[in-house]
Amino acid sequence: MVDLSVDLGFLRLKNPVLAASGTFGYGLEFKPFYDLELLGGFVVKGLYLKPREGNKPPRLVETPSGLINSIGLQGIGVEAFCREVLPELAGLNTAVIVNVCGEEEDEYARVAEYLSRHQGLAALELNISCPNVREGGRCPAQNPEATYRTVKKVKQVTSLPLITKLSPNVTDIASVALAAEEAGTEAISLINTLLAMAIDLETRKPRLGNIMGGLSGPAIKPIALRMVFQVARAVRVPVIGMGGIFTAEDALEFMMAGAAAVQVGTANFVDPDACLKIIRGLESWADKHGIKKISELSGSLRV
Ligand SMILES: Cc1cc2nc3c(=O)[nH]c(=O)nc-3n(C[C@H](O)[C@H](O)[C@H](O)COP(=O)(O)O)c2cc1C
Repeated sequence: MVDLSVDLGFLRLKNPVLAASGTFGYGLEFKPFYDLELLGGFVVKGLYLKPREGNKPPRLVETPSGLINSIGLQGIGVEAFCREVLPELAGLNTAVIVNVCGEEEDEYARVAEYLSRHQGLAALELNISCPNVREGGRCPAQNPEATYRTVKKVKQVTSLPLITKLSPNVTDIASVALAAEEAGTEAISLINTLLAMAIDLETRKPRLGNIMGGLSGPAIKPIALRMVFQVARAVRVPVIGMGGIFTAEDALEFMMAGAAAVQVGTANFVDPDACLKIIRGLESWADKHGIKKISELSGSLRV
């Protein structure tokens, strides 16, 4: 028997596999496929204070080994989530995490504060890749000072553990991670999508209504892995790695690079059972290699 549990300090997961925000709805959508309690946990779609319609279509383009999306953080808003969805999730024996969004620092804090008044959440994941309206659309994740301010502000209004989710669209990922750590985040997750675009030659138009979108899937895995490695070396808080994880072997690479746990995103669109298959694959790999506790593998890369 392999012990698949991982201890993040502020949260113990029964296994290291979480479904990633935006690829798993509000969790309930996956109930017909399998028992959600088999997961280490899941992160629901990003929530702002109010409902949002998102960007104009088309909003998804397939690329070789990847997906570009410009959903634009469509969502039901935090009030409807707490009223209509959370009661159905609150009793689950798995980590339910909400992805928190904001158009400015105050909104992040208000969403986090609202969620903190409700029972049933294991943690908040701060999506600091949201365009900030007061900063000409730049997101906090693009600069260490804005990251520090946003994390600090949210920490002041919530006692829920905070996982700060970083954007890969920066030159020095470690400096942003360090800013989040200094502001008190309990963990770091990365990476969000890479800014990308695609063009239709016949119409000479962008394939996405929003012109640009975020690339995810196997195409981004080597970049994500490199960034997880860099961040895990720089910070002391636990790191949750993601970006193109489709198999247990992919997840193991992230763990060896320093991730304590992983998230699985785009793979859920290709195979709704992807997370379960990865969990089973981790167990059989560890078993075959004589590993008793999966957590032993975190940061075990030999360099
Ligand atoms: C359709 C779609 C919607 C997403 N929505 C969110 C979101 O609401 N909040 C967020 O932090 N990340 C969002 N992401 C990013 C994913 O959570 C993840 O960081 C990224 O896709 C990389 O992982 P993957 O290659 O396994 O998909 C979204 C990704 C996709 C493909």
